[in-house]
Amino acid sequence: MSYKIHNSFVLASDHAGYDLKEQIKFYLENNNFKVKDLGPFNNDSVDYPDYGKVLGDFIASNKNIIGIAICGTGIGISIALNRVSGVRAALCHNIEIAKLARNHNNANAIVFGGRFININDAVSILDVFIKEDFEGGRHKRRVDKLN
Ligand code: RB5
Repeated sequence: MSYKIHNSFVLASDHAGYDLKEQIKFYLENNNFKVKDLGPFNNDSVDYPDYGKVLGDFIASNKNIIGIAICGTGIGISIALNRVSGVRAALCHNIEIAKLARNHNNANAIVFGGRFININDAVSILDVFIKEDFEGGRHKRRVDKLN
């Protein structure tokens, strides 16, 4: 199934990322971005591989969408996402990494550790990720090898 949206975002988390997911969703909607939330829809305990898989499949079949994923550390859901072919998920702790994740890795998903970052830092990092582009060139050769 194709669900093509331009300049739009798809989010998922586990329970440890739920609060930050809700805050990021609020921020994006208030800035007139389209947002699709794949859950969870409360902070009951869930398993990050399940949500990483659902989100990864969604990103892989929707080329112009940016994924946003959150678990406690950001590590588990990153691992889950990067098992899906075509997904390049980047755990971003700061602005510089977010910039390079787009410039060099053409990352199509940004990941946060919900227990280690606050909403103000997360949206600052997300803003950079949104605005930066892939540089191509030698980086394209490397990204192509991932496939
Ligand atoms: C859940 O307690 C926690 O293990 C999970 O959110 C994540 O940090 C795993 O990598």
